[in-house]
Amino acid sequence: MLVVGATGGVGSIVVQLGKAAGATVVAPALPEDEEFLRGLGVDEVLPREGDLITAVRERYPNGVDALVDVVTPYQPTPFDAVLADGGRIASPTNAAGEGPGRTNVMHAATRESLDRIAQLLADGTVKVPIQQTFELPQAPEALGALAAGHTQGKLALRVA
Ligand SMILES: NC(=O)c1ccc[n+]([C@@H]2O[C@H](COP(=O)([O-])OP(=O)(O)OC[C@H]3O[C@@H](n4cnc5c(N)ncnc54)[C@H](OP(=O)(O)O)[C@@H]3O)[C@@H](O)[C@H]2O)c1
Repeated sequence: MLVVGATGGVGSIVVQLGKAAGATVVAPALPEDEEFLRGLGVDEVLPREGDLITAVRERYPNGVDALVDVVTPYQPTPFDAVLADGGRIASPTNAAGEGPGRTNVMHAATRESLDRIAQLLADGTVKVPIQQTFELPQAPEALGALAAGHTQGKLALRVA
């Protein structure tokens, strides 16, 4: 499973869910993020700069079975060129396109999905990586950091 955008808030959870499902997880990332990603279970980190499609195809000539793209904004992902025949794509940024095996994920919690993620959190399968926690009065600072900075996992706001 290739995860593009693995370092961020969504991707850092996606890679853990991939590992829990038994996938070999591959992610393009910055060198300084490699240790963080390996700590989440990422099996292989590829350079983020350069031609990702060529890099993946050289490493996996038959392509990858699954792609999660959390960075391509609201247009079909160019990275589907790395998919193996029958491979699947999911994206929270509407980058999956349309058709069989393509899923644009929208936040829509159900009791069933919340129960499932609660269990994965409770048993330690999934952790929520928090780079920094801000107190409520620091909310503007937190938003500024979110907009301007490169975050490993999530920034948190303490409300109680
Ligand atoms: N559909 C939904 O319900 C839903 C729910 C939540 C989020 N979203 C959307 O999902 C997207 C991701 O959210 P997020 O909270 O995870 O954002 P985020 O924390 O900013 O994570 C995105 C990550 O991707 C990295 N990145 C950017 N370009 C890359 C590339 N070419 N290769 C590898 N990594 C790259 C970013 O690095 P830099 O920091 O260096 O840019 C960042 O670490 C956002 O567009 C958000 O609006 C949708």
